[in-house]
Amino acid sequence: MFNFDYYNPTRISFGEGKISELDKLVPQDAKVLVLFGGSSARKTGTLDEVKQALGQRELLEFGGIEPNPTYETLMQAVEVVKTEQIDFLLAVGGGSVIDGTKFVAAAAVFDGEPWDILLNWGANVTQAMPFGTVLTLPATGSEMNNASVVTRKSLKAKLPFRNDLVYPQFSVLDPTKTFTLPERQVANGVVDAFVHITEQYLTYPVNAAVQDRIAEGLLQTLIELGPQVLVNPDDYDIRANLMWVATTALNGTIGSGVPHDWATHMIGHELTALYDMDHARTLAVILPSLLTLTKEAKREKLLQFAHRVWHVDQGSDDEKIELAITKTRDFFEAMGIPTRLSDYDLGKQDIDVVIGQLEEHGMVALGEHENIDLAMSRDILTLAL
Ligand code: NZQ
Ligand code: ZN
Repeated sequence: MFNFDYYNPTRISFGEGKISELDKLVPQDAKVLVLFGGSSARKTGTLDEVKQALGQRELLEFGGIEPNPTYETLMQAVEVVKTEQIDFLLAVGGGSVIDGTKFVAAAAVFDGEPWDILLNWGANVTQAMPFGTVLTLPATGSEMNNASVVTRKSLKAKLPFRNDLVYPQFSVLDPTKTFTLPERQVANGVVDAFVHITEQYLTYPVNAAVQDRIAEGLLQTLIELGPQVLVNPDDYDIRANLMWVATTALNGTIGSGVPHDWATHMIGHELTALYDMDHARTLAVILPSLLTLTKEAKREKLLQFAHRVWHVDQGSDDEKIELAITKTRDFFEAMGIPTRLSDYDLGKQDIDVVIGQLEEHGMVALGEHENIDLAMSRDILTLAL
């Protein structure tokens, strides 16, 4: 196992009715900006519940944070924070609202042009405002991690940043708030969490038994409950388990002390920025091709994945690996998520554009061995057609 430091300061308040605890979690004298997305928080009543829980605190609202939150919109929120002298941020929504709030938290007190935060992967963040979250969509793990992904529309650039100062102080996870999710978003969440796990698990062995076994348990839980939630969307226990899987998948538990890949995500981000594909759909397209083309480097972990997660024990090693990849693709398809670029009306001609953007953004040495160069990314995209 690699040496590691594990730090996670986010308090989790989990369960039905937990929004009422905001009164304890948010400082009594805070002037709060509540940030949310398009319309779901208002329509579902979650926003009202949040406002009620905040009681007499002075609060302002900032709605309209879009899926794949944009720098352009978030900078408007930064303006509100500054002019209204806000001192606490509260995100109510999915990964996009939470990621957006992280950016606002850092940008509002940043000395310089805030886009530089993205260009420096967050290394230049030296302070951030305090904030909490109320999660309405289990998927990204943003509610309990220090990462955020922001899109600059004018540049068609979608870039991540990380910094320990943007861990939420707390996150409220009430599984009943996910009952209103459209099936498409439920499926997206399952697949996004699945790929977060593979990015930290399907690399090379470093004898990290705890991380491996937890990752395998999380994957098996998704494989078991993913199809079930589509059939029984009102089942509290299924929702609760999926919510906690998605959080645990990307809160450092399985990622400490092990190599990380993240190539699927980086290529996927370009597809979202260029063609507005849902984040999870980009991952479902890229992962099977990437695993196929990197199967030599990932051989040992792919065999472990085949055996322990998919119970594939017949055939040669190559056959086992291929079957595990096929089962992974079939799982995504069974969740209603197409896994080919052509399913999204993208063809050969689009690959050049994606490669150009990867180059522009310095994504030229991806993966746990930093050997996924532009030629390899092109092969992955071509195999995904
Ligand atoms: O905008 P509203 O009207 O609120 O609707 C949203 C949005 O259209 C809707 N929704 C959310 N909760 C709902 C609901 N509809 C009904 N009932 C509810 N309870 O769902 C739609 C999608 O929301 P979004 O927040 O965009 O989805 P998700 O949570 O999948 O977040 C995706 C973003 O997170 C980033 C992605 O790149 C993408 O920008 N990621 C962040 C990560 C991180 N911070 O660690 C890691 C991930 O890999 C990912 O990259
Ligand atoms: Zn993701």
